[in-house]
Amino acid sequence: MDKGIFITFEGIEGSGKTTQIKLLGERLKKQGLKVLTTYEPGDTDVGQKIRNILLEPEININPLCELILYFADRVQHVNEKIKPYLETGFIVICDRFTDSTVAYQGYARGVSIDIIKELNRILFNEFKPDLTILLDLPVIIGLKRNQQINKTDRFELEDLAFHDRVREGYLKLAEIEPERFFILDATKSQIELAEEIYKTIKLRFHL
Ligand SMILES: Nc1ncnc2c1ncn2[C@@H]1O[C@H](COP(=O)(O)OP(=O)(O)OP(=O)(O)O)[C@@H](O)[C@H]1O
Ligand SMILES: [Mg+2]
Repeated sequence: MDKGIFITFEGIEGSGKTTQIKLLGERLKKQGLKVLTTYEPGDTDVGQKIRNILLEPEININPLCELILYFADRVQHVNEKIKPYLETGFIVICDRFTDSTVAYQGYARGVSIDIIKELNRILFNEFKPDLTILLDLPVIIGLKRNQQINKTDRFELEDLAFHDRVREGYLKLAEIEPERFFILDATKSQIELAEEIYKTIKLRFHL
């Protein structure tokens, strides 16, 4: 059976994940490759309903409840979409994945990282991305970009210290698994970043 490639994009709000995924997906498709672009939370019918709860600005969620909703969404997403596409040889590019849960709910919100890792192990065992692109930039720049497009979900409304902990959390994760992560300076232009990402992926996966 063909085996696909699983690539995730991570980074704070406004770091350029969605922008770069679109550019990369289009470029790989032009090359004739089979590509699925997807996102978390929410890219299934069940996930849409969970996403509405998670990103609702006014809602008051217990941190463990929040954590489990993210995992619930991921179980549906991995089994309904990600794994079936990988099994038929697709390059699956996902906007946020487990590293977001560790960075936001763990490092930033303060839920025990051991609990998150244990839940992840129980639900997904060894399943993880082949490559994770981390778009790193100062929090203030990312949030300003999103303010300009009036994006205000529950996470944009968190304070700067929260987002700093997310950023630092991501950098720690990248330090723990340097071979899986590719860190980019996301203050660069969209075109420069797209080029670096494309080159890295071509080289790493011999495309
Ligand atoms: N390299 C860049 N330089 C300047 N602006 C950028 C760059 N990349 C993206 N932007 C702009 O910043 C805004 C946020 O980008 P984008 O939506 O891709 O970020 P994101 O990481 O997906 O954010 P979120 O986590 O909120 O979904 C958009 O208006 C986008 O056009
Ligand atoms: Mg986005």
